[in-house]
Amino acid sequence: MLILGVETSCDETSAAVIDNTQVLSNIISSQSVHLQFGGVVPELASRAHLRKIVPIVNEALEKADKSLGDIDAFAVTHGPGLIGALLVGVNYIKGIATALNKPFIGVNHIEGHIYSNFLGDMAVEMPMLCLLVSGGHTQIMAIQAHLHYRLIGKTRDDAVGEAFDKVAKLLGLPYPGGPHIDKLAKEGNPDFVKFPIGLAKEDTFDFSYSGLKTAVLNFVNKLDEKERQAHLADICASFQKAAVKALVDRTIRAARTYQIRHIAVGGGVAANSGLRELMKQEGEKYHLTIYFPEMQYCMDNAAMIARAGLQRLNSGFSSNSGLNAFPSLPLEEELTPA
Ligand code: KG4
Ligand code: ZN
Repeated sequence: MLILGVETSCDETSAAVIDNTQVLSNIISSQSVHLQFGGVVPELASRAHLRKIVPIVNEALEKADKSLGDIDAFAVTHGPGLIGALLVGVNYIKGIATALNKPFIGVNHIEGHIYSNFLGDMAVEMPMLCLLVSGGHTQIMAIQAHLHYRLIGKTRDDAVGEAFDKVAKLLGLPYPGGPHIDKLAKEGNPDFVKFPIGLAKEDTFDFSYSGLKTAVLNFVNKLDEKERQAHLADICASFQKAAVKALVDRTIRAARTYQIRHIAVGGGVAANSGLRELMKQEGEKYHLTIYFPEMQYCMDNAAMIARAGLQRLNSGFSSNSGLNAFPSLPLEEELTPA
């Protein structure tokens, strides 16, 4: 089955063609218009998607050496995300699929990040846990079988990607800050400052990042400009250590509590080198199998949306002309530990 996927939930316009699980093309255009504002400006994002959607889809088809007529079904992100941005992709796919009289499916963006671990020859064994870490989400889900999600922990305030971005901003680094902090952290001393690990003393699978962000702000405010520049890498490394430790501790504990041996990570922060390293180390220690998506599928992309769409279509789901976009589209049921 050939699926064309489209992703326009935030500031990446992306289109991909997949042949079952194999990715034939995955074109991502990151909007540079937001750089000068240090964050995503929703209206500018919608307008950039509107300009880019047709050329990006054409590029994806061309790279895959396919035409629209070859496509068997269409998949599009319909939430969560920025409403104006989502509407561009949803309306476009609905129009094309209807004109071609082909099936189409609305995909939850979070489900897409989960399915970035099922692209190409990669497949996670079930039951699995998924640690979802992005700019908007930080949560642990138990997945007993395909398309069945149970939320077992989530952030009580900021998402971890958001914390990376906010800390980067206060250190004067460009948006999005995650990759810049990751790069600098490699040259810094992670024990330079002992930043607090959110909810470390609580018996919970939840996360909290607002305290860590404030601790970095307070620490930085005490330094003069020269000291701050001299210790930029050390501050990044110390922040990253605390941010990552919370993610890994909670996830490993959840795996042991629920006795789930397979753990997949998804979302933009899955690209973080510190997270990859510590997760693998702890996984080995507790004999858990850890999966990370290929780097190219960590950030927002349409291949993961097409792959999640494939899973849904193969399970008998499809959307109809009533498909809508939802900024806070939910995915999972709540589960409290027994
Ligand atoms: O999944 P994603 O592309 O978009 C959302 O759905 O939010 O995630 C974007 C987030 C941003 O906060 C970005 O700073 C973060 O992922 N990120 C990273 C790294 N690469 C991207 N955070 C830490 N380390 C990285 N290497
Ligand atoms: Zn995302």
